[in-house]
Amino acid sequence: MSNAYTSFTPKFQFRVTAEDVDPVGGFFWDGRSDTAELQALGPLLNKLEMNNKDAASVVRKIASAPYAQMFKDEFGSQIFNNPSLAFQKIGVAIAAFERTSALQPFSSKYDQFIQGKAKFTPQETNGMKVFMDANKGNCASCHTMNPSSPKPSDSLFTDFAFYATGIPRNMAIPRNANPSFYDLGLCGPDRTKPALTSNVPANISIEKFCGTFRMTSLRNTAERKAWMHNGFFKDLRDVVSFYATRNSDPKRWYGPKGIPNDLPSAYVGNIVSDRVPFNRPASAGPALTEREIDDVLAFLKTLSDAPAQPQGPEVPPLVGVKNNPFGR
Ligand code: HEC
Repeated sequence: MSNAYTSFTPKFQFRVTAEDVDPVGGFFWDGRSDTAELQALGPLLNKLEMNNKDAASVVRKIASAPYAQMFKDEFGSQIFNNPSLAFQKIGVAIAAFERTSALQPFSSKYDQFIQGKAKFTPQETNGMKVFMDANKGNCASCHTMNPSSPKPSDSLFTDFAFYATGIPRNMAIPRNANPSFYDLGLCGPDRTKPALTSNVPANISIEKFCGTFRMTSLRNTAERKAWMHNGFFKDLRDVVSFYATRNSDPKRWYGPKGIPNDLPSAYVGNIVSDRVPFNRPASAGPALTEREIDDVLAFLKTLSDAPAQPQGPEVPPLVGVKNNPFGR
């Protein structure tokens, strides 16, 4: 998941409304961290990511970095004598950075548009219409937005809820070579199943949410190289086509059997099938025409922020740091 706009993510919780019970919030695709501070620490130690041996070895690297003094100024001159506390403070510092405008600039064409500073092309306008139309894309029913509010944070393009949408299995992931391995998102294996809270009706079991993953913001989605929790899609147009044809042409996505292939059969029933565009019988055909798919794609591209300015005012100068990412 992108770290841009991540600071708007609420803590993991179960949202109970008259219509529905939905898991919401938490960081990572499976919601396993409650805060940005904790999320930031995960990749440092994850064997598949930065693979540091332990917290103390990360802290030793910070203590010998050119910005060690800045770290002491912020967290106390003795901070490096307490590696477990210092490690937590790395998360605090990264999360503070994530709350700056550097990671949430709201500088996209869409943001200009809602403030009356830019006009959409006819194609972008139609794409937004299809995106919002409850009988067409219905994308905005999940990827929430409010174009009549000039406040960009009213359009985060996610309500942070978890769904199983039936993403096809990605065979390029090594652990997927084992046919009995499944990534069940909220039900693990990278986390333990969350306990149901007292607001959840007694007839609901956690099994109902196995295979669900947290919805991302669509801000900057056109800048990605791969989409969805397992990176199955390599082309954004295919993502939109998937939404349009999952029900009408399942063989295109799941192979000759045409049944969702990345969940054990016990959980296939958890896949969303009760709302547009996922509630159509195959005989009804695609939910969107090829032209509408192109239009939605054009709209999604309006959600990309302007290229970052080399000198953000909130980034402190890193004196003595060689090749620092801020270029000064
Ligand atoms: C039922 C709620 C729901 C609806 C309706 C919905 N989405 Fe999504 N969307 C999700 C969820 C959940 C994910 C993450 C799924 C995953 O990775 O397993 C997602 C992921 C995406 C992603 C990938 C983002 C990334 O960073 O990898 C794109 C792009 C996207 N949706 C576009 C759309 C478009 C376009 C529509 C309308 C045609 C739409 N969505 C309708 C829930 C929804």
